[in-house]
Amino acid sequence: MSRPARILVVEDDRVVARDLRQQLGHLGYQVVGVTARGEDAAALARSTSAELALTDIRLEGAMDGIDAAQEIRLACDIPVVFLTAYADDETLRRARLTEPFGYLLKPFEDSQLRTAIEMALYKHANDRKLRESERRYAATLASIGDAVITTDEAGCIRYLNPVAERLIHCRADAALGRPLAELYRVSDEETGPWAQAPGAGLMLHGPGREPVPIEQSVSPLIDERGKVTGSVLVFRDLSHRRTVEKELRDAQAELARVSGLTTMGELAASIAHEINQPLAAIVTNASAGLNWLRRPQPELAEVEQLLGWILADGSRAAGVIKSLQALARKSGPELARLDMAATIHEVAQLMRPDIQRHGVRLQLGPFAAQSHVLGDRIQIQQVLVNLLRNGIEAIRDSTGGSGADSSRLLVVSTAPGEAGEVAICVTDSGDGVAEAHRERLFDAFFTTKPHGMGMGLAICRSIVEAHQGRLWATPVAPRGLRLAFALPAAPG
Ligand SMILES: Nc1ncnc2c1ncn2[C@@H]1O[C@H](COP(=O)(O)OP(=O)(O)OP(=O)(O)O)[C@@H](O)[C@H]1O
Ligand SMILES: [Mg+2]
Repeated sequence: MSRPARILVVEDDRVVARDLRQQLGHLGYQVVGVTARGEDAAALARSTSAELALTDIRLEGAMDGIDAAQEIRLACDIPVVFLTAYADDETLRRARLTEPFGYLLKPFEDSQLRTAIEMALYKHANDRKLRESERRYAATLASIGDAVITTDEAGCIRYLNPVAERLIHCRADAALGRPLAELYRVSDEETGPWAQAPGAGLMLHGPGREPVPIEQSVSPLIDERGKVTGSVLVFRDLSHRRTVEKELRDAQAELARVSGLTTMGELAASIAHEINQPLAAIVTNASAGLNWLRRPQPELAEVEQLLGWILADGSRAAGVIKSLQALARKSGPELARLDMAATIHEVAQLMRPDIQRHGVRLQLGPFAAQSHVLGDRIQIQQVLVNLLRNGIEAIRDSTGGSGADSSRLLVVSTAPGEAGEVAICVTDSGDGVAEAHRERLFDAFFTTKPHGMGMGLAICRSIVEAHQGRLWATPVAPRGLRLAFALPAAPG
């Protein structure tokens, strides 16, 4: 058997008190104190660590057993069993208010005494467990971030946690017992009518307040017999999430606007960049033509040839503008079967004046046996023009190595690329590119040249990617840089 329960006896009849002490001893309980005065009972219960009090209702002093029981409960929360020989209705009503754990009518048998004590101890232990578990639930519900409300079956509030108090702007003491509908209503954000359905897209309306967007779940409370005794409503305030979502949308819109601007800015820059070369050629050829015409004997054959070139450069400039506009619209290149070896020769021809001016030795080839690709002729020419121009400029600006075999050499070649591709390589013997700049080479407006726009490689990348191709740079030993791009090979 477990340790004997510690019992306090509050009884003013000395004989009864003595008998009771004996009786309890027989039954295996430990009497830890006996007092005849209600006034002393609570202090004694505490000092003796009593676990139960047996209290006569009628006591001699100013304080009767009922008042004493109340003090004992307040002082040490132990069960009280009343002893009485007789009690009028009023006394019993008062006794009931102190939540007694049992009554024993004098005289009583051992078995009745034991039953009353055991029942009281058992019930008290159970009550304590229940209170603890309720406290635990209340603490849990108070600490969670969601609003929780429980109602009875009539929809009146039985409990609400602090988050719910804040959400419906009503303190628990004012809300308890009131029907939900008096405090707030929920509407569907889209369809409007009052709704109690679970889900998101709901608005919570309270008197005199802005509606709050919420997400709600509702579950029935069901007792052990399967009867619905109320419901649990859990809400989440979505205001913060909505604000964040809106900020995100605004930021995205702003980003789209800015990148739209960038595209416009890049288009303008690209046109300016690409049109320079044919314009310069037109101006040079036109002034040369004028010179031939102004001679005493005008050289009409020369003028005719120059006008032919002006025409060709003018049409090329128009073509470049058209293809850059198409690129900016992302309308996709006009693909045709293109022989890269031939295209490289055409571009080399265009670049000849620059090549000669800077003393660059140009080597065309080797070329892959199959170097046909699918591409937009003007656009692929532009890529080559830009890569060749960069190569020429790298050689022009190179700081050393003159005289060596590899010096001032620019090689344009093709090779079979990865599955189904043709790779085109432009390799120069310039100073190469600093490690720190390698990442930014292809960014629009990135340049290390005093008069550069930084658009060449950005345009190349846009064009190559629009062709489903790739563009990359590799350092070359002992000096120089290779810019290469791969395009899908033309079938057959
Ligand atoms: N062949 C190369 N060798 C060394 N550096 C290169 C080479 N090609 C490009 N670069 C580096 O990459 C940068 C960007 O090249 P990109 O062609 O985009 O612009 P840019 O040549 O500076 O100006 P532009 O708009 O007139 O072409 C260059 O400024 C240079 O620093
Ligand atoms: Mg360039």
